[in-house]
Amino acid sequence: MSKRVVVAVDGPAGAGKSTVCRLLAEKLGFVYLDTGAIYRALGLVLYEEGKIVKAQRDDGFRWLEEPDINYLRSLPLNFSVMNNRLEIRYRNKLLDEELRLPHVSVLASFVARMQQVRSFATEIQREIGRSVSVVAEGRDSTTVVFPEACLKVYLTASVEERARRRLEDYKRRGVDISFEKVVEEITRRDRADSSRDFAPLSVASGAVIVDTSGMSIDEVVNHLIKLVHIHCRV
Ligand code: DC
Repeated sequence: MSKRVVVAVDGPAGAGKSTVCRLLAEKLGFVYLDTGAIYRALGLVLYEEGKIVKAQRDDGFRWLEEPDINYLRSLPLNFSVMNNRLEIRYRNKLLDEELRLPHVSVLASFVARMQQVRSFATEIQREIGRSVSVVAEGRDSTTVVFPEACLKVYLTASVEERARRRLEDYKRRGVDISFEKVVEEITRRDRADSSRDFAPLSVASGAVIVDTSGMSIDEVVNHLIKLVHIHCRV
């Protein structure tokens, strides 16, 4: 396929974005742009480079020195695409499993609040989107990073459906929790995600809302493929 295409997907936690986007990219032969991995890498690297330190009082972090965009651009970090996957290297070492460590999740969420970091992460995402076809999945893919994408999707599901999926996930991991508690947790998270200062969750103008309640993963992926054909003319 020679035409370069950008598909952008946002939506609330638990709507199945990651699984769906990974499969969609695979089926289309596009790059799956896991934008969370970029924030995770930036959190990890800024910590390794000594710009962030552990906070004394809680188990969070604080800036020792806030980086500006030129510093961020000069970091020994490299983003490239290999076999339709985003590869991130720090000092020439491929970052992989370490990006999933719990403290790296906290660092990612910490750096994601900073505007300079968001601007830099946006630059990287757009650069990749200029060179290859992507399925970009994140928090502000449809609203900020790729507002001109040929297809913007707001992937959602009812609170009950997302709670049911989350409950199954908890059960698999041996966590004992009631359905009502999970509904409460998801409702609280939705409220926080829509009202936070950085990348607040919202439906982008021109986005197609896809409610995945009652649909299997394959059904969702096939539906999105149809939308790509219609909206992106590929
Ligand atoms: O999706 P994830 O858990 O890998 O994301 C890690 C962190 O990065 C999470 O705290 C939210 C943040 N993030 C963001 O602010 N914007 C994105 N486009 C992707 C992730």
